[in-house]
Amino acid sequence: MKEILEKVNEFFASEQFIHTPEELYAPIEYTLRLGGKRIRPFLLLAANQMFGGTTEQVRDAAIGIEVFHNFTLLHDDLMDKSPIRRGQPTVYRKWDENTAILSGDTMFALAWRYFLAQPHPRLREILSCFNQTAIEVCEGQQYDMNFEKQSQVPLDDYMMMIRLKTAVLLAGALKIGALYANAPQADTDHLYQFGIHLGLAFQLQDDLLDSFGNTAEFGKQTGQDIRDNKKTYLILQALQLAPDNCRQELTHLFSSTPADSDEKVARVLQIYNTLGIRQEVEKAISLQFDQALLHLNAIKTEEKNKAPLRELMESLSDRKK
Ligand code: IPE
Ligand code: IPE
Ligand code: MG
Ligand code: MG
Ligand code: MG
Repeated sequence: MKEILEKVNEFFASEQFIHTPEELYAPIEYTLRLGGKRIRPFLLLAANQMFGGTTEQVRDAAIGIEVFHNFTLLHDDLMDKSPIRRGQPTVYRKWDENTAILSGDTMFALAWRYFLAQPHPRLREILSCFNQTAIEVCEGQQYDMNFEKQSQVPLDDYMMMIRLKTAVLLAGALKIGALYANAPQADTDHLYQFGIHLGLAFQLQDDLLDSFGNTAEFGKQTGQDIRDNKKTYLILQALQLAPDNCRQELTHLFSSTPADSDEKVARVLQIYNTLGIRQEVEKAISLQFDQALLHLNAIKTEEKNKAPLRELMESLSDRKK
């Protein structure tokens, strides 16, 4: 796992992101240099290596998938009104909203340029996977916003929403890595499903950390989902478990935007604690990791080739950021 992550970091260190006009590119450089966990390029490389691909063959695709991910973050932070990411001010806060929109748009186009730069006999299939993934991420983001205004959201709809906004990108990164290495179709499908369940677990964890994490470690302001009335697994589970009067209070809290949002966050967390919501989410996360493992186990390749993905799963299982 360490070797692959080092490779990814090397790719980014050797890449120039600053061009003119500087006002357009400085936020791009800023975001990409802040790093982050680089999970998506890691997955792309790991899947590729698993089937005998060479790192150099997927260099541009790996950069492209991470540039795309960072584009979604620029727009997402604007949509979610998030003040910090990776421990630093978000782009729309450091610069302004128009900057987040335009630099973000540019990153989407740059991601395409990276993908196009890497010739491959199956490039059309690869690009079509990337394109479908990008459309699905936007669909997920729209559902996420729709749900802010909806007081009732079935759990299945929530799972569908996080599959789209988060899981398909992890799954897509794996599939693209496998396509570059000409992996057998059945194994590519298992890798994709592995990515879906890993991604579902990952977003459930993100929801949990947003309420119960530590801002300094997490790098994002905690309580933001509660302030935004996001319909996360936590609130949906709380609404199911709460007694009538408490359910009414929660419904009211999640349809209001009070001036004192700290008070609202504190009250919601108090209710979550009473209901044992943290443990409920942890159970759901662990179910998704189990599902992911079944697909990883089903892939027909030597065990040593699966080691980086197993290690990644391990390291994510108790993540704090
Ligand atoms: C943040 O993704 C967006 C989600 C899908 C939760 P990451 O948690 O992978 O963000 P970075 O790239 O490591 O900062
Ligand atoms: C992330 O969902 C999904 C995308 C960025 C596409 P969140 O809104 O929960 O991600 P964070 O918490 O801001 O990173
Ligand atoms: Mg967000
Ligand atoms: Mg969001
Ligand atoms: Mg979040």
